[in-house]
Amino acid sequence: MTFIMDPFMYPSIIKHGRQLDFHKLSDTLAPLAFGYPPVMNRNSPGLHDEIIRSFQLLQGDNLTPLTESMMGNLMLVFRQDHMGERLGEEGVWKSGGMYEFCSSVMFEATFLTIYGKPPLASRHSGMGTLREDFLRFDTMFPLLIAKVPIRFLRQAKASRDKMINYFLPHRMLCWSNTSMFIKRRLELLDQYDTLRDVDKAAHHFAILWASVANTVPATFWAMYYLVSHPEALEVVRQEIHDILNLSGIEFSTDKEVMLSRQQLDKLLYLESTINESLRLSSASMNIRVAQEDFSLRLDGERSVAIRKEDIIVLYPQSLHMDPEIYEEPQMFRHDRYIQNGREKTDFYKDGQKLKYYLMPFGSGSSMCPGRYFAINEIKQFLCLMLLYFDLQLEEGQTRATVDSSRAGLGILLPTKDVRFRYRPRVVKQDKCVTSATSMSSQMSD
Ligand code: HEM
Repeated sequence: MTFIMDPFMYPSIIKHGRQLDFHKLSDTLAPLAFGYPPVMNRNSPGLHDEIIRSFQLLQGDNLTPLTESMMGNLMLVFRQDHMGERLGEEGVWKSGGMYEFCSSVMFEATFLTIYGKPPLASRHSGMGTLREDFLRFDTMFPLLIAKVPIRFLRQAKASRDKMINYFLPHRMLCWSNTSMFIKRRLELLDQYDTLRDVDKAAHHFAILWASVANTVPATFWAMYYLVSHPEALEVVRQEIHDILNLSGIEFSTDKEVMLSRQQLDKLLYLESTINESLRLSSASMNIRVAQEDFSLRLDGERSVAIRKEDIIVLYPQSLHMDPEIYEEPQMFRHDRYIQNGREKTDFYKDGQKLKYYLMPFGSGSSMCPGRYFAINEIKQFLCLMLLYFDLQLEEGQTRATVDSSRAGLGILLPTKDVRFRYRPRVVKQDKCVTSATSMSSQMSD
């Protein structure tokens, strides 16, 4: 395995997507983890290409219905689980684990948005058990990707079997409000007689993993950094109020709010906050396997000989934490990705501008197709948290640190959960009546 440490070499690696391939490797590892047969085989001609094509249904114009549906589902879960019967009434402080809070809300709202709701109900029963199974499986995920056979990991196997059962086609066909993305995949998998129902269900389960395993910790870190930096939280909260005001929406906490995709796009400080927390918490590896012997040109003068089967790895965490690129890289700065009121995209090393400076979503052929949806849903979650709740960290806790046991696989989890307090805010026609008291207590934390 060769790790590429010089970020100026990244573009050469990324643009050789055909010779330096990702999907053949993922087609050996993903089946081991998720339990479906490899996709690139003679029994399922064309399936791999169609799966890749289906990813477009997470992007472009398709992002609008996904975003609208996510907003409704987040509001549903927030209202029923956390806001109390009546909106707009000052509530009591509650406390809880911040990771647990993010995980329960994002897991369910994402599930409802992607897979839809059950017949005759707005929420699926058994979501808590499904999430517990998910967490048991996810804890073992690094071992599965390291090719430890799942039969040696009995709990992970039992949890995986239960989750796969959840997605059996006869159950999914009863769900409504299913995203176009999943509808297309149901239709597509149905065209292959060689796939059994459990194989199809395993594909849907794999998408569940992809859609929440990184989004939940990413949501946690963005929320944690905001709550632990009250000055940043206030800037972002004000930005959200300003965007609503600009659109002529008189926000008050006794009403449900709807933020459109266009409004979310304008939230630059919120986006910078999310990018900054992704920079600090992401540790994914971009792995490529050489498909043939070839000469890889690095720049005008240099090239290296690559042999078939060589494994080349980009590890963007080394660039995210490089003090020559990011001043004080360990520090959270909510406005790191903003310059002169616009998104900052020029970052330098040794006086040279970098093409790639932030890569939590991978690169080139293995770039995450859900990245726009992920950023939008994290924005939506944080907008609702900041608009409807006063938030504080509980006192007497040490700073949250990352657990590196998933290094290489995506967004790192915290070593332990962080305790926080939250209570419904009261804002009448965009005049915040509780923030003065809540801010002073946040500042003293
Ligand atoms: C903050 C949240 C997310 C992060 C950081 C993230 C990161 C990544 C990364 C790094 C990869 C490439 C894996 C590799 O190179 O080995 C990837 C792939 C993928 N992601 Fe995401 N992801 C996120 C959210 C999502 C969401 C919400 C969805 C779907 C709704 C999604 C769907 C996928 C899929 C289907 C792939 C496989 C792509 C392929 O096989 O070409 N991801 N993600």
